[in-house]
Amino acid sequence: MDFSTQIIEWYRTNKRDLPWRKTKNPYQIWLSEIILQQTRVEQGLSYYLKFIEKYPSIKDLANAPQDEVLKLWQGLGYYSRARNLHYTSKVITDKYKGEFPATYKEILDLKGIGEYTAAAISSFSFNLPYPVIDGNVYRVLSRVFDIDTPIDSTLGKKEFKELAYELINKNNPSEYNQAIMEFGALYCKPQSPDCENCIFTSTCLAFKTKKINELPVKSKKLKQKNRYFNYLVFIDEDYTYLKKRTHKDIWHGLFDFPLIETPKKIDNILNNQQEGYSFLFKNHLSIKKSEEQIHILSHQKIHATFWTVKQKNLTTPTNGLIKVDLKDINNYPVPKLIENYLSQNLKNCTFDI
Ligand code: ADE
Repeated sequence: MDFSTQIIEWYRTNKRDLPWRKTKNPYQIWLSEIILQQTRVEQGLSYYLKFIEKYPSIKDLANAPQDEVLKLWQGLGYYSRARNLHYTSKVITDKYKGEFPATYKEILDLKGIGEYTAAAISSFSFNLPYPVIDGNVYRVLSRVFDIDTPIDSTLGKKEFKELAYELINKNNPSEYNQAIMEFGALYCKPQSPDCENCIFTSTCLAFKTKKINELPVKSKKLKQKNRYFNYLVFIDEDYTYLKKRTHKDIWHGLFDFPLIETPKKIDNILNNQQEGYSFLFKNHLSIKKSEEQIHILSHQKIHATFWTVKQKNLTTPTNGLIKVDLKDINNYPVPKLIENYLSQNLKNCTFDI
């Protein structure tokens, strides 16, 4: 039995029952794939169901305000995915009259859709023979075929792609693609796979040569940049300030507190007033510093300190700040870091500090 037949057979008896596997609707498949690039199936499921309920069709998503889409995405991180989802829904609504394009080339041309997602939509919705190549697939192929070319090198990408095109089941690309990803997720796992009881025990080359734990190979390590965020949480009884992030940086389009970024950790915010926020400190009653909160992103480590500044009356803001009633603060889409801070410190619409 060949590789693709074997893996499809395995899939039929072992697959998880997931809603996006019961549809051919390209909008629903696209949505599920974008969410699943961001999180695991268990967490992604509730986001998927929320999106489908709120925006049953691509036109509903296209007509939604951006803040609402970002709010629904809140907690998943990497907000450019949500912005691209929204942008592309408008393109499909306008250029394609709401009908999802049905060729690989047209799908790949859409913003926010790379080769992986284009192959997933093309195969799952339109049964076109384009292999998906994600982390699961790299792992399965590198092990079964004992390939130690780094998967993040140009050569590695080419080699794995050629093999993936050879292996895909041309009669059943949809099920084959689901199967190889599911096999990687449930069986050929990164740590401690149960090789003794695997369907490929007799053919897996890395199992034969005891190289399972060395594959796949990656050449580069991610460099992480440290950043020091000082958030200014101005408070009078019922109000605080938020600011929409508009510059080219993380969390574009989300709201956070007025921010002073410093090159290192600081002890006194009053000595570090920047960006025209100094007038805000006039007549303040007290300043309190939080413990440092660490927030890890793919390429950045954020060291966040929240400085709560109590005041009698917050002035009408300038500099793009908005004065927000604490009763309404949870309506704003905010990064996970701010969401965590609010859930720990805001009780019954007042700050518990
Ligand atoms: N991860 C990425 N795509 C997936 C899918 N369609 N089903 C399960 N897990 C996935």
